[in-house]
Amino acid sequence: MSEEQAMSPDHEIGTTTEEELPQELQAPPEEVVAVLAEEMHVATGTREPILQSSGVSMVFGGLRALSDVTFSLGEGEIIGLIGPNGAGKTTFFNCLTGLYSPTSGQVTLRGKPMPKDPARVTQAGVARTFQNIRLFPSMTAMENVLVGRHVRMKQGPLSSLLHGPRFRRSEAEAHDRAEKLLAFVGLGRFSDELARNLPYGDQRRLEIARALATDPSVLLLDEPTAGMNAQETEATRQLIFAIRDLGVSVVVIEHDTKFIFTLCDRVLVLVQGELLVEGSPDEVRGDPRVVEAYLGAPPDEVEAQIHAGATAGPGTGGPGLQEGSTD
Ligand SMILES: Nc1ncnc2c1ncn2[C@@H]1O[C@H](COP(=O)(O)OP(=O)(O)OP(=O)(O)O)[C@@H](O)[C@H]1O
Ligand SMILES: [Mg+2]
Repeated sequence: MSEEQAMSPDHEIGTTTEEELPQELQAPPEEVVAVLAEEMHVATGTREPILQSSGVSMVFGGLRALSDVTFSLGEGEIIGLIGPNGAGKTTFFNCLTGLYSPTSGQVTLRGKPMPKDPARVTQAGVARTFQNIRLFPSMTAMENVLVGRHVRMKQGPLSSLLHGPRFRRSEAEAHDRAEKLLAFVGLGRFSDELARNLPYGDQRRLEIARALATDPSVLLLDEPTAGMNAQETEATRQLIFAIRDLGVSVVVIEHDTKFIFTLCDRVLVLVQGELLVEGSPDEVRGDPRVVEAYLGAPPDEVEAQIHAGATAGPGTGGPGLQEGSTD
């Protein structure tokens, strides 16, 4: 098994849900947010389109996984992408990030064609996390974040070879940023812990820190709360708000509808590869097509689920709520 292969949770997840969030799960400390916002870039809040797709389709053999998907993410916006298992959500992220080359259609970043390979997509300012966590399990939390940071390090090969002053300065800066990012996601205390020893929820947060280390303008999160308890889910909601406040525009795939409806400015519903409904959380929640096609349950049951704050982790058995394995 390679280091980069998905890790499975090897820790029990905590059970407390009602008490106040423990300190490490609270919204990132204000002073850390302020410094990071200065070092990264602060949202203009203009809602100018930053990431767009136009008529994106993806066909695998005889299967049409995406049909003509057109969308636009505005600067400073948080968009939710929901839909049943196999709807094409992860495939859409894969098309946006160069992992798949769409069968037809275009993806643009600030109006320019998106590069075709994932490394250059990251360079261009689009970072992502994966549905199945991909960390380096035998590396520490700090080292995992530093891997993300290397995308932005500028020293040339000679400087690295000689370990000259520029190299040392650059390494120190990378370390400093990684430390701030670990504090930002609530993992400051676990900097030296091996990734594989971290509880599942912390691994998900570590993946977010690593993605943020690449200085993205856009962050794509594929099921960031899968497997989390209610408390960790709430902490992740606060974290994503804080990420948006850093100036990063966000698209989130999630099955937990309460999470999506209370987090996102806009929600897109993908069903069988087609964008069925798009609107504000209230519009989407009230749309009978969503209830019927996506949630597959009577409206009152769906509403009850939404208002009860049910958190659907993998295998919890709700309609269309099991975690898939496509990525
Ligand atoms: N590389 C691939 N080759 C063939 N079929 C694929 C590939 N990737 C995805 N698919 C198919 O495309 C469809 C959409 O899959 P995708 O993983 O995008 O769904 P999803 O909405 O992310 O589902 P889930 O909620 O379960 O994660 C599925 O039928 C899946 O089997
Ligand atoms: Mg998926």
